[in-house]
Amino acid sequence: MRLRNTLLAMALVSVSAVADDAKVFALDENQCTPPAASELRGDAGNGQSLHAEHCAACHGASGRSEVVVMHMDETPEDQSDPEYMKTLPDVYLYLAICKGGEGVGKSYVMSPWGDYFSHQEITDMIAWIRSFSGT
Ligand code: HEC
Repeated sequence: MRLRNTLLAMALVSVSAVADDAKVFALDENQCTPPAASELRGDAGNGQSLHAEHCAACHGASGRSEVVVMHMDETPEDQSDPEYMKTLPDVYLYLAICKGGEGVGKSYVMSPWGDYFSHQEITDMIAWIRSFSGT
């Protein structure tokens, strides 16, 4: 009985630890406040390496999503298509990356990256993503 209580206590402790983590990592709306329009495109070179490491698995190295990813029922649009990319302003790209797909009414498969990347890193990736389509 005592063992069971101890286990229960441990379980409760770990649940509250998770809850604390969730609080720490919860998406802070203010954190996704986009910078001024003139600062939305950062350093494409830095964006390239971040993109290769974190995004290309789903979006492809040049944004064409010519990749096969398990459980990705809704593949991302071709980000090398200028017609498509012209419909998306930089601020939209910023919000999609920061808040994730659900944050802009798209698929949850695109996760929110706002807690992971700085403003600067997000704008660096925007500059790199723009280079796919020349927009
Ligand atoms: C697990 C796969 C996956 C990863 C990893 C991923 N994305 Fe996405 N992303 C998606 C999907 C799927 C969509 C499209 C959702 C939809 O159309 O409903 C999307 C949409 C987007 C959009 C919105 C514009 C568009 O083309 O629809 C941007 C911008 C974007 N992703 C950037 C990134 C960046 C930058 C990274 C890396 C930091 C990244 N994504 C990582 C799957 C992913």
